[in-house]
Amino acid sequence: MSNSGSACNGQPSQAPSLSHLNNVPTHGQPLWLLAELTYKCPLQCPYCANPVDFASKTGELTTAEWIDVFTQARELGAAQLGFSGGEPLVRQDLIELIREARNLGYYSNLITSGVGLNERKIADFREAGLDHIQVSFQAADPEVNNLLAGSEKAFKQKLAMAREVKAQGYPMVLNFVTHRHNIDQIDRIIELCVELKADYVELATCQYYGWAYENRNDLLPTRVQLERAERITNEYRDRLAAEGNPIKIIFVTPDYYEERPKGCMNGWGQVFLTVTPDGTALPCHSARMLPIEFPNVREQSIEAIWNRSNGFNHFRGYEWMKEPCRSCDEKEKDFGGCRCQAFMMTGDANNTDPVCSKSPNHGMIIQAREEAELPSHKEPIYRNERNSKVFAKS
Ligand code: FES
Repeated sequence: MSNSGSACNGQPSQAPSLSHLNNVPTHGQPLWLLAELTYKCPLQCPYCANPVDFASKTGELTTAEWIDVFTQARELGAAQLGFSGGEPLVRQDLIELIREARNLGYYSNLITSGVGLNERKIADFREAGLDHIQVSFQAADPEVNNLLAGSEKAFKQKLAMAREVKAQGYPMVLNFVTHRHNIDQIDRIIELCVELKADYVELATCQYYGWAYENRNDLLPTRVQLERAERITNEYRDRLAAEGNPIKIIFVTPDYYEERPKGCMNGWGQVFLTVTPDGTALPCHSARMLPIEFPNVREQSIEAIWNRSNGFNHFRGYEWMKEPCRSCDEKEKDFGGCRCQAFMMTGDANNTDPVCSKSPNHGMIIQAREEAELPSHKEPIYRNERNSKVFAKS
């Protein structure tokens, strides 16, 4: 990896100048609040986007603190609230938090592996006002699913819970993170989703953050795999639509096979607010790895965090950009791409996202594509406390 900039020493920025903020365009409201209630999770997916050193983050927010966060964010305009983790079902107060979200007028969404869910909880959550449940699967068959999840019972449980979610009248999203080990099963995955009567299906090719970045060589599919999966998905879409099946199938390709970067999070600090289990507030779920000091909801109000904190203002606007982004006529569309990816790959979050073919670091992406053509040669690193403690020490 090259190491090409000033903010690459792994230390928090020291009171950076805010003069660049004079030209920051007015940002919107934090419409989407993602509440990462806990980093605890019964599964061990090697593509988890949680920080690899999560074991060192202790001191989860209390029920009252979460309710305060929800209240403040709602006052600032937040409309959608996602309960995420880790596995949010681990929190014993989840039902209380759902009830409060409903009282505050949020549209709420539970993002879960389904492990820890049961018929009774699904009914109780509905009664408390939960609007939507997203169940994630690792694969369409028990062997691959359970291997990736690190649990022998996960697949059976997920199937049962997906059926129950639907039976109880929720709109249901099924989420399959696809990668080189399951993408060739795309037809079986879609057939399973049809059988389970999913309303929406996200076939989301793995994004390489957190644990997934550490396991990228074992996960990134080849271009041939991707193109085949996309073609089959399109064929299913057409056939299902012709049969009158209302299922919506979304296919997300990994940006590693693009030539222009994604406009990550719709722009830094524009609509998205994540609060982590210990109260750290972030403009995206991966940002805590950056050498920037992020505010904590225990110390500042959500209004101050959103409007005035350095963490949220850091990459607003265009003044922070280096070339080639600064003079690029696409910068208002993609904002230079993903800051976390730029940091992970180049050591400097101010750099152009290497996905962009104009980036001097684009060769890193080409190299990753070439490595994907080789057989996996590495055992995946599973996301668990033990491995996380090793990352936390290093
Ligand atoms: Fe953090 Fe893209 S994931 S800016």
